[in-house]
Amino acid sequence: MQSKDFIELEDKFGAHNYHPLPVVLAKGEGVYLWDVEGKKYFDFLSAYSAVNQGHCHPKIINAMIEQAKTLTLTSRAFYNNCLGPYEKYITEYFGYDKILPMNSGAEADETALKLCRRWAYDKKGIAENEAKIIVCLGNFHGRTITVISMSNDPDSYKGFGPYTPGFVKIPYNDLDELEKALQDPTVAGFLVEPMQG
Ligand SMILES: Cc1ncc(COP(=O)(O)O)c(C=O)c1O
Repeated sequence: MQSKDFIELEDKFGAHNYHPLPVVLAKGEGVYLWDVEGKKYFDFLSAYSAVNQGHCHPKIINAMIEQAKTLTLTSRAFYNNCLGPYEKYITEYFGYDKILPMNSGAEADETALKLCRRWAYDKKGIAENEAKIIVCLGNFHGRTITVISMSNDPDSYKGFGPYTPGFVKIPYNDLDELEKALQDPTVAGFLVEPMQG
């Protein structure tokens, strides 16, 4: 099968929720990629940073294979012999007290919002359901209902209302607006991704 055949399959049987570049990738190694015709590319996107480590590093692949052969999944109903050492390593490496790992960016954002709101009610003393989170216009934080409610980009939110309330949207890189928004005593937090795509 050629590139155009794979593109046709996705077009016919997949949801049209994304608009990929017309390149059909079949193989990766380190910084390189190959399409189904064997053409070689540099991967300057790295799955939006999800594979910044490069493709198919043998050490990472072997760790995945070994784990899959040893124990598939425990759920959080039990302890296991991997989570604690990982949490210790990653918190020490990045200098945080604690970690709550998530599977995706949108899920991480949702969890940060929950953490912020719970802190606002339990510690800051904001009245129930009154907490506000400040966000920046032009953001893209993911595709869940709450995360698109933070955006002003019609590509993300149009047609998916009603939206989650509780967000104050200010222009990106405007410290005066941020200072003004922070005067509101019901502000629970400020969410910003410092690199705007
Ligand atoms: C800037 C930015 N933030 C958040 C996300 C959401 O991440 P995920 O797709 O893992 O939910 C993305 C995903 O493309 C992104 O590009």
